[in-house]
Amino acid sequence: MKIAVSYLKSKYDVKKTIELINKSNADYIHIDLMDGIFVKNNNLQIEETIENLKNHIKPLNIHLMVEKPIPIIEKLSVLKPETIVIHFEIPNFLDSLIKLDELKIKKGLAINPDTDVLKLRPFLEQIDEVLIMSVYPGKGGQNFIKETLNKLKWLKKYKDENGLTFNIAVDGGINDETVFLIRDYVDIVISGSFICMHDDYNKQIKLLAR
Ligand code: DX5
Ligand code: ZN
Repeated sequence: MKIAVSYLKSKYDVKKTIELINKSNADYIHIDLMDGIFVKNNNLQIEETIENLKNHIKPLNIHLMVEKPIPIIEKLSVLKPETIVIHFEIPNFLDSLIKLDELKIKKGLAINPDTDVLKLRPFLEQIDEVLIMSVYPGKGGQNFIKETLNKLKWLKKYKDENGLTFNIAVDGGINDETVFLIRDYVDIVISGSFICMHDDYNKQIKLLAR
């Protein structure tokens, strides 16, 4: 199980937090971008994001909580992200997947807590990551929604039975207790405040990886 660290809610400012993630044992930096339309909050300062991440060491896993991802994907491609995840609930999400293919960036699809995971079935062969939201998207530090577990179990079973290769990721409310609920079903766990609200990132990461 790989660990991606989200810096949305942190004890320190974004720059210092990114520096701490880069120095830690994390496997990825998870970047949450929000447009104020798909979710209420807005932190879509693309130039600033690029500036903050241009010297990144860890591979980037970018989570776009936005209605219109294509222009953002184009701008962020300078960072050479490993994966960009868009939401299944937005209009014309397939166009964004095509754009990601063109730019040779791995493709992820995220679903909200209220979206039926079975709806993803027709797309599972063509994507690299499924991100199951275990909180309502929009902010860090919320509680894990337990019903998410059924989605993860179904997805893991479907993936294994059909020999598919996409990564299963879970995002929101992951701490040293909830991680034990999900660890048998996921390839990537995304954790934010459980890591970034502390000083010793490696200590927190170890608690998740136990
Ligand atoms: C929620 C974000 C998550 C969030 C995770 O909209 O997509 O990545 O920052 O933070 P925690 O672990 O604090 O729930
Ligand atoms: Zn996220």
